[in-house]
Amino acid sequence: MQNSIPYGRQNITEEDIQEVVKALRSDFLTQGPKIAEFEVAFASYVGANYAVAVANGTAALHLCCMALNVAPGQKVITTPITFVASANCVKYCGGDVAFADIDPETYLIDIANVEALLNASPNGTFAGIIPVDFAGRAVNLEALRNLANAHGLWIIEDACHAPGGFFTDSKGVPQNCGNGNFADLAIFSFHPVKHIASGEGGMITTNDEALYKRLLTLRTHGITKNASDFQNDLALAIDPTSSLIPHPSTFPGWYMEMQELGYNYRLTDFQAALGLSQLQRANAGIAKRREIAAKYFEAFKGQKGIRGQSGIVAGHAYHLYVIEVENRLGLYNHLREHHIYAQIHYFPVHLMPYYQQQGFAPSDYPLAEKYYAHCISLPMYPTLTEDEQDLVIEKVTAFLHG
Ligand SMILES: Cc1ncc(COP(=O)(O)O)c(C=O)c1O
Repeated sequence: MQNSIPYGRQNITEEDIQEVVKALRSDFLTQGPKIAEFEVAFASYVGANYAVAVANGTAALHLCCMALNVAPGQKVITTPITFVASANCVKYCGGDVAFADIDPETYLIDIANVEALLNASPNGTFAGIIPVDFAGRAVNLEALRNLANAHGLWIIEDACHAPGGFFTDSKGVPQNCGNGNFADLAIFSFHPVKHIASGEGGMITTNDEALYKRLLTLRTHGITKNASDFQNDLALAIDPTSSLIPHPSTFPGWYMEMQELGYNYRLTDFQAALGLSQLQRANAGIAKRREIAAKYFEAFKGQKGIRGQSGIVAGHAYHLYVIEVENRLGLYNHLREHHIYAQIHYFPVHLMPYYQQQGFAPSDYPLAEKYYAHCISLPMYPTLTEDEQDLVIEKVTAFLHG
């Protein structure tokens, strides 16, 4: 029987396994040296100054919203075509989510719609924007930054789909997703279907030192062990029942302070070892994804029944390869009959029952809804073989012309 072909799949090599085994045999299971190594290597990969490894991409989004002080009464704009986490992080902090409809060509949040939303509301209505590099296509953050500056907004780039992706700025310079040149913070996920897998896992990147330092404490309960940051005085830290300070007059080694409410959102050392090992193959993985995309593009270009597709786009990281077809449900079922497990990304967030309870309704974002009605993500991962991709193309074509 033909092997099943999923839409995405992790690739774990013998080297990856050996790196995890080494970490397991070391003295550290959680927060050991692999965390810092992974952070430094990842920051350098995307071209940012700082990186903070966390438990998953959702935790990364939550911590970013906390670090930017999202609070009740604040509104944050994101896209309806994303995984729910891009919106939920605002709700975790008590803020409210607003959506701006997508550009039907790129499937990304349409900056013109963001601008219209900002212009239609009194100044100060919105605190920030969470654009998503959906499917691996990078948002033009230069344009979004200009808009954000004009309205005093911060930007969290949800780059879960796009490590290794880039957009080209107005000077012709490639700007890597997550490099921190335009967004205040960027986040990534290392879920198995993503470019780099660590089981669960996530990363925040930034060029802002103050945000970086705050994120380090927020990911571990808001606790700091850094004596120069301590708020309590030495006498209280040593013995709260006495005001005498013994000699030597330094904070004792055990002392630490929780200065604000944080979480345990730490990554483990053996997950970092896996992520670090996977990172070595990240560029090769993207090169393969681009080859696969080019082959899909050529196969479907001009085909009757294909309403749109991801296409060939410079800097696209191709986490997903999306095509839009008239009879999406029919194609989905037809592919399943042939053990090809295409997937749908995404059911619009504003139509999730939870968000309808917040006041959103069908036809609020017609372009996102139209896109959803026709989109389907075809198998896309570096170990997809030529024969497997040929089979996918054959079955899609047969369905469209059958
Ligand atoms: C766009 C986007 N944002 C956020 C997340 C959340 O990442 P995680 O699953 O690691 O929590 C995902 C992962 O599915 C995602 O695709």
